[in-house]
Amino acid sequence: MRASELLAGAAALLASGVSAEAYLGFNSGNTLPSREAKFKKDWVQEFTTAQNLKNSPGVFNAVRLYTNIQAYSQTSEPIEAFEAAIETNTKILLGVWASGTNTIEPEIKALQNGIAKYGKKLTDLIIGASIGSEDLYRVSVTGIQNKSGVGAGPAELVKFISDWKKAFQGTAIANVPIGHVDTWDAWTNGTNKPVIDAVDWVGVDEYPYYENGKGNNIENSGYLFDRAYDAIEGAVGGKPIWVTETGWPYVGQTWDQAEATIKNQQYYWQEVGCRKLFGKVPTFWYNLRDSNPDNEMKFAITDNLSTTPHFDLTCPKTFKTTPKASSSSASATSAATGTGVSSPSSMESGSSGSGSSGSGSSGSASSGTASSSEPATVTAPAESAVATGSATSVKGVSAAAVAGMTLLVGVFAML
Ligand SMILES: *[C@@H]1O[C@H](CO)[C@@H](O)[C@H](O)[C@H]1NC(C)=O
Ligand SMILES: *[C@@H]1O[C@H](CO)[C@@H](O)[C@H](O)[C@H]1NC(C)=O
Ligand SMILES: *[C@@H]1O[C@H](CO)[C@@H](O)[C@H](O)[C@H]1NC(C)=O
Repeated sequence: MRASELLAGAAALLASGVSAEAYLGFNSGNTLPSREAKFKKDWVQEFTTAQNLKNSPGVFNAVRLYTNIQAYSQTSEPIEAFEAAIETNTKILLGVWASGTNTIEPEIKALQNGIAKYGKKLTDLIIGASIGSEDLYRVSVTGIQNKSGVGAGPAELVKFISDWKKAFQGTAIANVPIGHVDTWDAWTNGTNKPVIDAVDWVGVDEYPYYENGKGNNIENSGYLFDRAYDAIEGAVGGKPIWVTETGWPYVGQTWDQAEATIKNQQYYWQEVGCRKLFGKVPTFWYNLRDSNPDNEMKFAITDNLSTTPHFDLTCPKTFKTTPKASSSSASATSAATGTGVSSPSSMESGSSGSGSSGSGSSGSASSGTASSSEPATVTAPAESAVATGSATSVKGVSAAAVAGMTLLVGVFAML
């Protein structure tokens, strides 16, 4: 390989690594548990709590939204979370609802309306956009078996991604990285490869709690998570991975071996959040507050937006999930192949209220959105959470970036 090629490769690696700041945030649907619309003040409360959580390992100053449209708006009114984000300096991962519709025009319009209203104050906060959420899961064998609601296939998603790029070409957000969020087994399904090719980053919703039949007890949760993560890494050809939903419920039925307790919620925070994600991978925890009334599992880490969570958020210095245990654990091993269960949120969509087509979702987990669109699978908790933050988040330069820099330095030395 020639030095110039090496240099180009190193630069690409560096660029991709650096672009993946390790954002910290929560998910946030556009409705409350009562199914009423959330308004600016509701998001200001969420974002303020997220940034001020006691003993937080970093500042949760990012939010993942499920839609650009204010709940129940028929006219592509921009979601009021935008205004709250501006007021609290919260970074925004935009969401676009993409199932049960043949156009994302209302979503595009709502964002355009928001940009017309707030300009650079809004566009400076936008860190990414996800076209779709668990759409591929819902059309997969498991998603259909689980009656997860209307989804969308790879060709539709690729078209929507292209529609989005065209709409924002030459605007202030033209370079915002585009992703798609799905369950891990959607990403390892070869039929969905065109979606991988079309995105800048790959979003994954992963809930070991829902992985029945795989030894999903809490002590195994870190191994199940790693298996899924590694499987995606192997399938996406070096595209950055963003963990768009993960968490453990503190209320709900025992799901095979998985028990919903506060103690387990803390264990999962430590063994998956602290060990694997925070400061390393862009992460949107599920969740700060529950908002999907149809999901009997409750994932909130705090009550009534208190800044004192159910458990101490402090990260430990050592972990129980170790590489050695991983390979010897029979259950972890078998887990990799199973089906992925999606997340609770899947249902959440926040999609636009009625405006969107209403595809049905049956879903139980969903969060409440008014919209028709929530997906509903049981699987995903999907609700909404929010986060925000003010100041600095835990930003870390990713390992890939470090590797890229090292490589770059080496190349310069060769020249
Ligand atoms: C793989 O993906 C395709 C397209 O999304 C879907 O139709 C198919 O059911 C998936 N396969 C499995 C085993 O879920
Ligand atoms: C949260 O708020 C509800 C409604 O005001 C109240 O009934 C409940 O006791 C509160 N929970 C906690 C833990 O403060
Ligand atoms: C989805 O379906 C599979 C297979 O039918 C089942 O084992 C699993 O529990 C279901 N997941 C959810 C979340 O319902």
